Amino acid sequence: MQPVKSPNEAPAKTFYIETFGCQMNAHDSEKVIGTLQHQGYTRVESEEAADLILYNTCSIRDKAEQKVFHRLNDYKKLYSQGKRFGVLGCVAQQEGEKIFERAPFVSLVSGSASYRKLPEMLVQLEQGKQHITGLDDRQTEETFETEFTARSNSHRGYITIIEGCDKFCAYCVVPYTRGKERSRTSTSVLNEARRMADAGYTEIQLLGQNVNSYRDPEGKRTFAELLAAVGEIPGIRRVRFTTSHPRDFTHDIVDAIDAVPTLCDHVHLPVQSGSSRVLHLMQREYTRDWYLDRISWVKSAKRPISMTTDIIVGFPGETDADFEETVSLLGEVQYDGVFAFKYSPRPNTPAISMADSIADEDKSKRLQALLDCQREIQRHNYAKHIGQEIEVMVEEYNAARGQVIGRTSQNKTLNFTTKQPILPAKGNYVKVRVTSSFPNSLVGEAV
Ligand code: 5AD
Ligand code: SF4
Repeated sequence: MQPVKSPNEAPAKTFYIETFGCQMNAHDSEKVIGTLQHQGYTRVESEEAADLILYNTCSIRDKAEQKVFHRLNDYKKLYSQGKRFGVLGCVAQQEGEKIFERAPFVSLVSGSASYRKLPEMLVQLEQGKQHITGLDDRQTEETFETEFTARSNSHRGYITIIEGCDKFCAYCVVPYTRGKERSRTSTSVLNEARRMADAGYTEIQLLGQNVNSYRDPEGKRTFAELLAAVGEIPGIRRVRFTTSHPRDFTHDIVDAIDAVPTLCDHVHLPVQSGSSRVLHLMQREYTRDWYLDRISWVKSAKRPISMTTDIIVGFPGETDADFEETVSLLGEVQYDGVFAFKYSPRPNTPAISMADSIADEDKSKRLQALLDCQREIQRHNYAKHIGQEIEVMVEEYNAARGQVIGRTSQNKTLNFTTKQPILPAKGNYVKVRVTSSFPNSLVGEAV
């Protein structure tokens, strides 16, 4: 029998959310989803099925920003069916009320620094208010902490330890879209980590736009001490952290990795350019040699630590010689992964008005040359694992290939087969012998 609805019962409220951009955004969405569910909303999988359609947006590069306006355009017809639209995240903070001019059917515009006010904003939305804004351009001191986070994976999960950014690199919108740096107390981070361990999580990834710029408001722990403390929680087997800034990369981080086996064998340390001249123009506040010193610390750790980086090609004024220095840096460091991007001019940033912009065609050529060079480095690096036995966490299955997809502590994908009749469950840890390799993945057999 169908349950009888009382006439006073509120109508079912459904929402659809799509997330663009980085891990910070992915995790913000998990918190937004939890908050909405706590407010009585049910998540649905399509725009058509939803009363409220949310886009959590990214504005790091122009392409990412355009995506959200395309999406809004594709679905605006649903407005006539009474559906409401909200734009969250970095494009929301950057464009603010201009979004209402460009897309008048949007009802809610909120940057990430205002998500703690979401419950109030949702009430206003339900009361029929037309244009609701949560915009906090570098004003707020508060972080968005919620006990209602709806994590999408039940084995590994994110914890934000610091929000915002105070670095003001010349190309980057983040200091304008995510507000000033503000750290959570280490007590609250550790409480969240312990709750996750109790709930069966074995891997925790500490997040921040500048994660190692973390400053405990209680003054109890440094970033390295917090890392170690999370790694020592019973039940936690893997701890990762992202993204580190070279300026704040201190030796005690490597010492913590040496001392605490659960801290993963991987450091992501964005360099952006191998030319000290370009680094100066970018306002990165370090030189090539200074960066390479940090790399040498990582390389002299007691166990092999995988290194990855971010690169921007075609920053204004970058000459062929500057670019060659970036290519030579890749050879020197021998990264296991590089995220490379063509420079994209962003509103409000100092670089937007810099002279000597690079033609898109040249940026594309440099990007391709860089990726070609890096592919060979990775082919060589990944092949070194052949014959090793490596522990992976099971992530997924590739039914077509009959493979299990695992992830190593070094954050490499290791696809493997097993002779066991029953496949290992997601989240399990399995020892795998590596039998062959590609530039981006390893292949093996369960031991
Ligand atoms: N253009 C291109 N890439 C950028 N990034 C940040 N801002 C820009 C921009 N304006 C890259 C940097 C950063 C990564 C997250 O995105 O490499 O580390
Ligand atoms: Fe994109 Fe940066 Fe915003 Fe993340 S913080 S969504 S990378 S603009």
